[in-house]
Order: sequence, then C-alpha cells, then structure tokens
Amino acid sequence: MGKAKKEWLDVAIAAMDKAYVPYSHFPVGACLVTKSGKVYQGLNIENASFGLSNCAERTAFFKAVSEGEREFQHLVVVGHTPEPISPCGACRQVMVEFCEPTMPVTLLGDDGVMKETTIESLLPYSFSSKDLPG
Ligand code: THU
Repeated sequence: MGKAKKEWLDVAIAAMDKAYVPYSHFPVGACLVTKSGKVYQGLNIENASFGLSNCAERTAFFKAVSEGEREFQHLVVVGHTPEPISPCGACRQVMVEFCEPTMPVTLLGDDGVMKETTIESLLPYSFSSKDLPG
C-alpha cells in the first residue's frame, strides 16, 4: 500500500474515536481526499431525534464542500462491520453529486479486507445534475 493511502486509512480509523454515537454505539470514520491532496476527516454525529443523525461520509463531504472544495480523488470509509462497510443510500447520492463516476472508494470493516470500489459501482443509474434541464 502506498504511503498516501495508508495515511488516508489512518485518518478514517482515527475518526471513529471522535464519532458522536451515544445511541447506536456504532462509530464510522471517513477520509475524503481532494485532488490537491488535502484530507477531510468525517465521523457520524447522532442526535436524540434519531433521524437527524449524520453519517461519517456526509460529514466529510459537508466539511470539505463548505471550505470551498469541489474536486475529489478518493474516499475511505471504515466501520466495525464484519465485512467492508457499505455506505448508506443517502451518502451514495451525496457522493454522486460531488465525485466523478470512476472515483475510487475504499471500504474497510473488521475482517481487514479492503474493498476497492467506485462511485458508479456504489450507485449505478443514479439521478444527477445531468438529468436536469439546462
Ligand atoms: N453510518 C455512517 O456513518 N456511515 C455508514 O456508511 C453507515 C451508517 C452511521 C449512521 C448512524 O450514526 C450509525 O452509523 C448506525 O446506523
């Protein structure tokens, strides 16, 4: 594994320690990497009103986008699932908004297997800006 990829994984793993998960006790960590190499750490943030909880992936995207970032090269997501974690549908739609279809995504769970996938594999036949007029 390359040095950069190892760093991205470490950022995602470290994020789990900061997750705010008093209800699910299920921390998730993410590392979103810009094309310029900057990393944004994401973690899930829950709420007593459960539906307001925000996933690690969307935290990372909203942090980056709110800082003016628009170009991304890689996303890593880590959680304590038996197999590589599977991002939720809402997060996949947010990924589609900001990432090229071929952008690589690395998923990791407790078995240590790194699943390498892409945005378009995670959400095929997606609705996006290309479907809107104008
Ligand atoms: N969660 C994430 O943060 N990312 C995922 O990919 C799956 C689910 C969070 C939402 C909630 O805080 C907890 O995990 C249990 O669903």
